[in-house]
Amino acid sequence: MYKTKPENISLENAKKVLDFLLKNRFLTVYFTGGEPTLHPDIVDIVRYANGLGLVTSMTTNGTSSTKTVEELKEAGLYLLSVSLDHWDAGKCENIRGYRGVKHREEEVIKFGKDIGLRIYALAYLNPDLIHDGIEVFMRYVNHRLGVPFGFCYPTESSVNTYRLNGRHYVDGELNVKLREAIQAILSLKRQGFGVANVETYVEDILRFFENSAPNFYCRGGEDVVYIDWLGDVYPCFLRRKLFNLLRGGETSLLKNVRCNECLISCFREPSILPEALASPKLLLKEARYSFDMRSMIA
Ligand SMILES: C[S@@+](CC[C@H](N)C(=O)[O-])C[C@H]1O[C@@H](n2cnc3c(N)ncnc32)[C@H](O)[C@@H]1O
Repeated sequence: MYKTKPENISLENAKKVLDFLLKNRFLTVYFTGGEPTLHPDIVDIVRYANGLGLVTSMTTNGTSSTKTVEELKEAGLYLLSVSLDHWDAGKCENIRGYRGVKHREEEVIKFGKDIGLRIYALAYLNPDLIHDGIEVFMRYVNHRLGVPFGFCYPTESSVNTYRLNGRHYVDGELNVKLREAIQAILSLKRQGFGVANVETYVEDILRFFENSAPNFYCRGGEDVVYIDWLGDVYPCFLRRKLFNLLRGGETSLLKNVRCNECLISCFREPSILPEALASPKLLLKEARYSFDMRSMIA
């Protein structure tokens, strides 16, 4: 994303996007980027979303000031994830190309915890991390930093405005390591480790590796959408535009979506939410392994 020209949605248009989400009965809004805390109106945008009753969450790379973090909490931000790519500071710098990034990220985690923000460390399952040991990292995050661990499944996207580089996973050996890392995450979650990702989703990643049907399909374009700074609405990071919601005209979402073509957590996990709200069994299953996490984020 850093290679593209920086652009911001205006506060007025951001409000229109949030109104659209409310009108279409979405429950949550997740602010990502680019770096969302660089947006000059991010606090007002979060305040507006919160005022509408949307559950708000955001990922930051830790470069924001503690003042912004405090203002976001006061504006009603429900959940903040802070990217952390490795326990080794040098590897974090290599991945991000930013000197001292790990220190910045951990400072934000510590500060967020101190002011009572629900916060967790979010790791993209990068090659260094899965090669060096995801278990070591999970212990580091849970025990040393005292927050839950969450992960982003590695993704390559260059179809629409959301760009991610995940090309290295074509490599066969890394794919084996990735699968082992997912198995380890599921096993540690079941042992009571604080893992922010829902268990059903982690199981579905393993089912994908086995070519089995998932517990839950993705509903990108129906129950979850990606909206960019231009107001263009997409089913996900890998599909083309459905419509623009700021220019007027038709704004229909898709119907009866059942997709299992990728595993991007940003879309797979919110797709489970409507199912969980309708299924006490699923809610109980997830609650069972969320208990230890509650003590870290409640
Ligand atoms: C794209 S960033 C945007 C938010 C913020 N600027 C940050 O760096 O955290 C959101 C999350 O995606 C993760 N990410 C980066 N590249 C990725 C990739 N190729 N596949 C999956 N997740 C990735 C980041 O580590 C981060 O946790």
